[in-house]
Amino acid sequence: MKIGIDQIAFATTPYYLDLVDLAQARDEDPNKYLIGIGQSKQAVVPPTQDIVTLAAQAASQLNLTAANISTLIVATESGIDQSKAAGIYVKQLLGLSDFIRVVEVKEACYSATASLQFARGLVALNPAEQVLVIASDIARYGLKTGGEVTQGAGAVAMVISANPKVLSIEPVSVNYTQDVMDFWRPNYATEAMVDGKYSTNVYIDFFQTTFHRYLEQTGRELADFAALAFHLPFTKMGKKGLESEISERDDELATRLRVNLTAAQLVPREVGNLYTGSLYLGLMSLLHHGDVKPGERIGLFSYGSGAEGEFLTGILESTYQAGLGGIALDQRQRVDLATYETMFKQHLGLKSTDVTFNVDADPSRFVLAGLKHHQRQYQVKE
Ligand code: CAA
Repeated sequence: MKIGIDQIAFATTPYYLDLVDLAQARDEDPNKYLIGIGQSKQAVVPPTQDIVTLAAQAASQLNLTAANISTLIVATESGIDQSKAAGIYVKQLLGLSDFIRVVEVKEACYSATASLQFARGLVALNPAEQVLVIASDIARYGLKTGGEVTQGAGAVAMVISANPKVLSIEPVSVNYTQDVMDFWRPNYATEAMVDGKYSTNVYIDFFQTTFHRYLEQTGRELADFAALAFHLPFTKMGKKGLESEISERDDELATRLRVNLTAAQLVPREVGNLYTGSLYLGLMSLLHHGDVKPGERIGLFSYGSGAEGEFLTGILESTYQAGLGGIALDQRQRVDLATYETMFKQHLGLKSTDVTFNVDADPSRFVLAGLKHHQRQYQVKE
């Protein structure tokens, strides 16, 4: 039985920062950001958005039959509560059935892939079930830090089912985990701590390790792939990953993999790091802009700091366009540096006092109206 991604949709915030503006403010050459890092814009998060509203925004674009969704898994590393699962708010905002299982999972940027694999297991047990997996995150490194240019925000929502319309996930994948301090966020911090250069080396090491073991286990070779999609904390990282495998090659296959990587980078370059959703936004970008045909194999490298990697694969289905959500970035509003910094500081974060936000300023359908008695106040605009 085929099991995999039946539908996939993406949402981000209504605002963005042009990274040339950021480069000028931080006294950097814009080409460092545009070429060296490979990012052009990043999502700016108003106080009225968090992982719950972003998750609801993404999932509301799916064609959901509420009664068929047995389980909702939210994958995130920007959790808003140490106890309650963010997905319970999302379930309420989306009007899903009360007869549903809802949990939250965490392992840095990797956990959406873990959720997808857990979902495959649930569907294998009962093929009538569908699982809603939502990867939702806000990547915050802090103003004037090395990681600032690699911030971003957004959510990717996926329905995992039998006979999927988009991508059948193949049975063999390789997981690899080591206790590594490349990126982490202690409970008392609202911004990530990162050993930046080290993290990029660990990423490459984990890609190489999982990919080569996969090739050994399956007897497959590079030519069995139409495209390799990568977790993209910044788009240059995907290039580093791919080139670690094909830098010596200049043949037709290498050219195709490079063209498809560029296609996968197109949308992430405009949004920034989505943490858990990054790999899957790259996949959506690839399916919209790349050269991949039904029946072909796509390799996916998922990476989460701390650190865990998985190399998995999927076969593109002939019906993929019916399950592939659109990517609407042209409605976003550009904000200047001062507005970005103000919004950055308004983030609810560790604040514990009551606050009310101006939801009218935010055109999004799902908004966070503030904090009252330590409870987040969500609203749906009709
Ligand atoms: N024109 C063109 N390119 C330029 C340039 C210019 N004028 N100036 C510099 N560059 C290039 C550099 O040569 C370099 O390229 P290479 O990496 O290919 O050599 C690139 O721009 C970046 O320059 P630096 O290395 O000097 O940049 P930096 O010291 O500011 O750090 C960073 C970059 C480490 C990625 C930092 O932004 C960071 O810490 N980011 C957060 C951590 C991260 O994203 N890690 C990724 C792996 S971990 C992960 O994947 C999980 C996750 O999501 C966090």
